Amino acid sequence: MFNGKRRMKILFATIPMVTAVAGCAKEPYSGSAVEESVANKVAPHSLEAFHIAFAPGADETERTFSWHTRGMDKKAVVELNRLDEKDNVLSSETFEATVEGILRGQSRHKATITGLEQNQLYAYRFGDGQRAWSQTYTFRTQATEDADFNFLFFGDPQIGAGDGTQIDAAGWDRTVTAATELFPDTDFLVSAGDQVNRANKPIQYEGWFSPEELTAYPIMPIVGNHDAASFADYFNVLNETGLGGDSEASDFYFIYGNTLFIALNTQSDAVGEHREALELAVSENPDATHRIVLLHKSLYSSADHALDEDVLALRDGLVPVFDELDIDAVLMGPDHVYVRTYQMKGDEVVGETAYDKEGAAVDPEGTLYLTGNSSTDSKYYEMQDPSIYERYAAVALQLEEPTFMNVGVTDASLTFTTYKTYKTADLSVVDKYRIVKTEGDE
Ligand SMILES: [Fe+2]
Repeated sequence: MFNGKRRMKILFATIPMVTAVAGCAKEPYSGSAVEESVANKVAPHSLEAFHIAFAPGADETERTFSWHTRGMDKKAVVELNRLDEKDNVLSSETFEATVEGILRGQSRHKATITGLEQNQLYAYRFGDGQRAWSQTYTFRTQATEDADFNFLFFGDPQIGAGDGTQIDAAGWDRTVTAATELFPDTDFLVSAGDQVNRANKPIQYEGWFSPEELTAYPIMPIVGNHDAASFADYFNVLNETGLGGDSEASDFYFIYGNTLFIALNTQSDAVGEHREALELAVSENPDATHRIVLLHKSLYSSADHALDEDVLALRDGLVPVFDELDIDAVLMGPDHVYVRTYQMKGDEVVGETAYDKEGAAVDPEGTLYLTGNSSTDSKYYEMQDPSIYERYAAVALQLEEPTFMNVGVTDASLTFTTYKTYKTADLSVVDKYRIVKTEGDE
């Protein structure tokens, strides 16, 4: 048990229990109608599903699920029930899952659910394709059409890098809980890589999966250096390009509302392939208003890895591509420090950026680079000599406090606000930066 909210892992003897997600400010899900629907199927035994995560799919109408079960399951399904506001089941659909392999006596499963409607409550549960079902979880989709949205960005959780797996997991749980309580209608979460410290330590993944909010909010995991070896064992992302990657992960992209997200596997130094993946993602989504890149390695840091050879090589190779493709912002992890750059182009600070009365950058040239600090308190890196980073860093802070970032998206703006999480318990704002677009996508 990592904390009092640890997800139950109980084999239910009769009918699977319908659960609400505590700590989630969304409409509670009492489940009577669904319970009845479930009862009609009379599962004689239940299925223990764990390591449950789901991510945005190719677009906002999809979610990609991944979960584990014990034993040698040959088949797996995920059942999706669309609910009205009184929890009555409006429609039900079952999606086939893959059984991708066995991990330490466990089966791993992946499924993509499609056809999701906006602003809609759903219940889901996992089955073995025969008679066993897991307990039921819920999530709510948000409106994206003609609507603003936001997502939450978390720097390296890296469970197991700090004072102990349980302590790190508790920190992760507190950050995820604080962030989703502050933004209960957030569309999804992003974790910037290094989910765990040791890829081969299942106990560290237990900690990463421990926040129960992860069964209610989609989370897009980015592959890091510490977790690369087991990334595909635990996560399911769509639109993998097969470029810039290996057997565990490659570059991928997804569209959400008006924004194209492109995630690069920075374990690979094949910048030519990263360029191909970026060009592919942009050419397939030419109408996206905003373009955001997600990386693990930080190209503009102020801490330990600021001058690493691999980082500098990636900077040399990728920055010109980001410039060419008008990438608005690049969100990054691994240096356990907070850095916001000036608007950058050609590895130089853009000469003239106009700001409005509120301090928002108006139609800025170039790209903004943001490095997130630890989201768990597990590890912080030391600031290096300012001569290394002052030429590009507008803000560089080592607060030694866990933080998360909210990114607010409208058709005409992107707003990046970073909050402290639990040490000061005040959710105070560390930094805020806003880009306003008055002339379309610049
Ligand atoms: Fe890290």
